[in-house]
Amino acid sequence: MQYTHDTMRKTQTRRRFQTKRRVSFPEEPFFSMNLNGKTAVVLGGTTGIGHAISVGLAEAGADVVAASRRPHEVDRTAERIEAEGRRTLRQTADVGNRETLQALADAVLQTFGKVDILVNAAGITKKVPTLDAPEADWNAILDTNLTGTLRGCQVFGRPMLERGYGRIINIASLSSFVGFYQVAAYAASKAAVVSLTKTLAVEWATQGVCVNAIAPGVFRTALNSELLDTTGRGRELLLRTPMQRFGKVEELVGAAVFLASDSAAFVTGEVLTVDGGFLASGVNQ
Ligand SMILES: NC(=O)c1ccc[n+]([C@@H]2O[C@H](COP(=O)([O-])OP(=O)(O)OC[C@H]3O[C@@H](n4cnc5c(N)ncnc54)[C@H](OP(=O)(O)O)[C@@H]3O)[C@@H](O)[C@H]2O)c1
Repeated sequence: MQYTHDTMRKTQTRRRFQTKRRVSFPEEPFFSMNLNGKTAVVLGGTTGIGHAISVGLAEAGADVVAASRRPHEVDRTAERIEAEGRRTLRQTADVGNRETLQALADAVLQTFGKVDILVNAAGITKKVPTLDAPEADWNAILDTNLTGTLRGCQVFGRPMLERGYGRIINIASLSSFVGFYQVAAYAASKAAVVSLTKTLAVEWATQGVCVNAIAPGVFRTALNSELLDTTGRGRELLLRTPMQRFGKVEELVGAAVFLASDSAAFVTGEVLTVDGGFLASGVNQ
């Protein structure tokens, strides 16, 4: 009898609490990582990290246009996106060439009517002693990694600002924060990508456009596999990573989907590090 009475009292309390919660919370789920109905563009989205993010955004529900310079990589990624049941476009673009980005934006707007999400993942690097680094290399790396990111933000940011909605994710690096041996141009470009991200976040904060960055740790891709495999650098990077392994590109998808989603509506100017503990670490053994 006592048990029944207690149970009834608890049930009544829970109902009162649930009624209160229903009154004070919006009817739509407050927490959503669903990207259904969103349109995403991923520049440098056809191999490595960009490819994984393109497929991940499609798995989360978005239509995704993954662009880069090589047509066969664009085709390969488009097939993968369509296999998720999402729409895409097959169009190349060079972040070093504003006209190709504008043509891509025009095609996306014509086909999908809007662009909600932009990921700037195009990047190149070269390891060379800084004392002798040719200016041509320096300029090429800065032009792709930094100015290319600016071009992407400008070309796709404009329609986002006009519509009052956008999510931009720039790909930074551990070298945005700490020195990496003999990659001065790459590190300078990635430090500046963080600065650009924060500046645009502040400029566009009242206009519905959030600008954030992801700083990946070490992921073996076409960009770095030779360096990781043929020099002592790979061993050192593993030693410095508390998880003692390189990342899998799929492990960046959760961060990208979060920043692309309405769950991140109040997040802007943030750099989300996905690095197995690298930046947190001092001594690992
Ligand atoms: N792997 C890592 O450990 C790591 C760590 C931190 C940050 N990142 C950054 O992550 C991003 C992706 O790199 P990744 O490691 O995945 O290497 P990746 O496989 O070589 O990817 C680089 C992508 O950028 C594209 N790209 C290069 N120049 C371009 C241009 N001018 N216009 C358009 N697309 C261009 C390439 O495609 P096309 O050649 O077909 O144009 C390729 O799809 C880069 O920004 C890189 O700096 C990588």
